[in-house]
Amino acid sequence: MTLVTEALIEEVVRGFYARVRDNPDLGPIFAGAIEDWEPHLAKMMDFWSAVMLSTRRFKGNPVMKHNALGGVTPAHFDTWLGLFRENARDLCPPDIAEEFIRKAEMIAESLKLAKFGLPGVPRVRSAGAPL
Ligand code: HEM
Repeated sequence: MTLVTEALIEEVVRGFYARVRDNPDLGPIFAGAIEDWEPHLAKMMDFWSAVMLSTRRFKGNPVMKHNALGGVTPAHFDTWLGLFRENARDLCPPDIAEEFIRKAEMIAESLKLAKFGLPGVPRVRSAGAPL
């Protein structure tokens, strides 16, 4: 059995955001929101450590941060997940890649629901949502 390590999490996070920054659809959104990449990468390593290893290291409010981001559509989430899957499968043993992907898909679904609501159902605005 292969174990998830902090070293693997760092590799996955760095690899993923290198792909994101190179992507023509997602790159500009991130470039507009993040000036200094190292603190963001460190935060994302904490986030994935909390998700994959239950370390409770991450402190933040992803729903509020994503609700506040302008110019993001549901299609951007598909692109994000596509890059995430490719990167995880390139860097991790298959069982670990699928665990990363399953968790990313669940979290993406809940961020999307918080940001866009259910199709056809009026959304209750939450703190930080753009008007
Ligand atoms: C269209 C898809 C997405 C875009 C464009 C996006 C963009 C961003 C940006 C620009 C930030 C920095 C916000 C800031 O510091 O002001 C951020 C933070 C973050 N993102 Fe995403 N994101 C996306 C999807 C996801 C998904 C699917 C996950 C999790 C699986 C995720 C997890 C996070 C986390 C944990 C943070 C830190 C939140 C905090 O500081 O409280 N993002 N995202």
